[in-house]
Amino acid sequence: MVSSNTKNPKRKCPELTYSARPSSNHFSESEVTKKIRSGELKVAIYGLGHVGSPMASAWLRAGAHVIGVDKSPTVSESARKGKSHLPEPGVNEAFASGLATKRFEIYNDLVKASHHSYLKMICVPVLFSDNNSPDFTAVNEVSSAIGKGLKKGDVVALNPSVPPGTTEDLVLPIIEKESGLEVEDNFYMLYNPERIYEGCAIKDIEERYPAIISGAGPKSTEVGRIIYSLIFKKGVLSVSNIRTAETEKLLEGVYRDVNIALANELAKFCEKIGVNFWEARDAANSQPFCHLHKPGVGVGGACIPVYPQFILHSAEQVKGSCDITKLARAVNDAMPAFCVKEAIKLLEPKKDISLDRITVTLLGLAFRGGVSDTRKSPTYQVIKEFQKMQVKEIRVHDPMVKADPTLVQAQNVVLSSTLNGAIKGTDLIMIVADHNEYRTLTPKDIDGVPIYDGRSILDRTIFDHSTYATIGIGSINK
Ligand SMILES: NC(=O)c1ccc[n+]([C@@H]2O[C@H](COP(=O)([O-])OP(=O)(O)OC[C@H]3O[C@@H](n4cnc5c(N)ncnc54)[C@H](O)[C@@H]3O)[C@@H](O)[C@H]2O)c1
Repeated sequence: MVSSNTKNPKRKCPELTYSARPSSNHFSESEVTKKIRSGELKVAIYGLGHVGSPMASAWLRAGAHVIGVDKSPTVSESARKGKSHLPEPGVNEAFASGLATKRFEIYNDLVKASHHSYLKMICVPVLFSDNNSPDFTAVNEVSSAIGKGLKKGDVVALNPSVPPGTTEDLVLPIIEKESGLEVEDNFYMLYNPERIYEGCAIKDIEERYPAIISGAGPKSTEVGRIIYSLIFKKGVLSVSNIRTAETEKLLEGVYRDVNIALANELAKFCEKIGVNFWEARDAANSQPFCHLHKPGVGVGGACIPVYPQFILHSAEQVKGSCDITKLARAVNDAMPAFCVKEAIKLLEPKKDISLDRITVTLLGLAFRGGVSDTRKSPTYQVIKEFQKMQVKEIRVHDPMVKADPTLVQAQNVVLSSTLNGAIKGTDLIMIVADHNEYRTLTPKDIDGVPIYDGRSILDRTIFDHSTYATIGIGSINK
């Protein structure tokens, strides 16, 4: 069952009438709305990262009083100065205005933040560890603190993408145990998967998507619908149970991963048979049921490569199998190595060249263009592949990443502060992230150096076939 108030946003919602009202902290719809907007009921955001900082901003922009909590001193200190450590549009302005109007506070004490707030949003990540299982450390810690500070009538929302069952089997028991309160009778529990796209996160929340929610019971769901309607203009789409809401978000990610893998496979196939994949793709996508994605040098970020792992982990636990999901991951993981091999072929005409004497320039360290987020970026894998080939030097440039502690320790790798500095005197260039700054590069800009376009963003008509190659075409004119 899926119900939505998005179809008729003008529908007047009935006042809440709970059968059980054990405390005066259970409010009517108009009271909740009024008290959040006036700042009387505070919103605590746990984790001020890529998801938490735009979420805090959306609440501040709606007039709410926000308590930000983050265990990183750097993140907390920046927020206290009205700044985010991330370049997410609109966040600095919202933080600064929240501070100026005394509606934004940063707490170090996680329990106190729970005690002082009405709505608590858990925006810390669930990672996937190297031993192939989800890492709930941050969520466990925050849930426990929230439970310790929980009061009757409070609302808790879990926001990260999680393996199905996490809210009810892990988070809820911790909160109930720590608080001694019972969900639905004494407090409300929601799962609300964050669906933001970094770089336009506030807009995504406020304007672009409905909030997907599900509660631990009908009262929680109803409270969630009221609260989320305050910031999501596209409304609230409530699904019938939390497990469905948790799964929904993973399906979004797996859909992308599998389709990118399909595009990668078909692009490689087209190369082999001498067909320009991009031309074939444009033609195929003119048919309304065909949505071929773009192939590329790899899939990165904290989301798309991770969600299939959650699905595969869950499938294993119920002795199920998700073969396509698994294969797609493997196809996408193999792309950096494939593209490096293709890039090296551009050096073949220079018969006397020896790899241990060449410098390679990688354009882009972020996992995609327009962001500074380097988590699981394919560039790291590309670096490893070139290191295996024992090239002399690897220069990395990114217009949005000015420092990277992992690269400092990497052998023969330097992070160049300027594009010119990264290109000058290099032997081979590879585009790894589709930053706008790279789209207009011409053969003159790069001194005729061979370039492998791992995101197919350049105007290939202006390049010579012997010095340019991209996925789905290989070397042009080939
Ligand atoms: N980044 C995205 O675009 C995106 C989109 C949709 C969903 N998500 C999901 O949202 C979740 C959060 O991702 P993110 O990108 O915001 O992560 P992030 O790493 O950018 O931010 C997490 C923040 O939480 C803080 N933190 C970690 N442990 C903490 C603790 N115990 N107590 C207090 N603070 C703590 C960190 O210091 C960090 O600032 C992920 O699980 C991801 O799946 C992310």
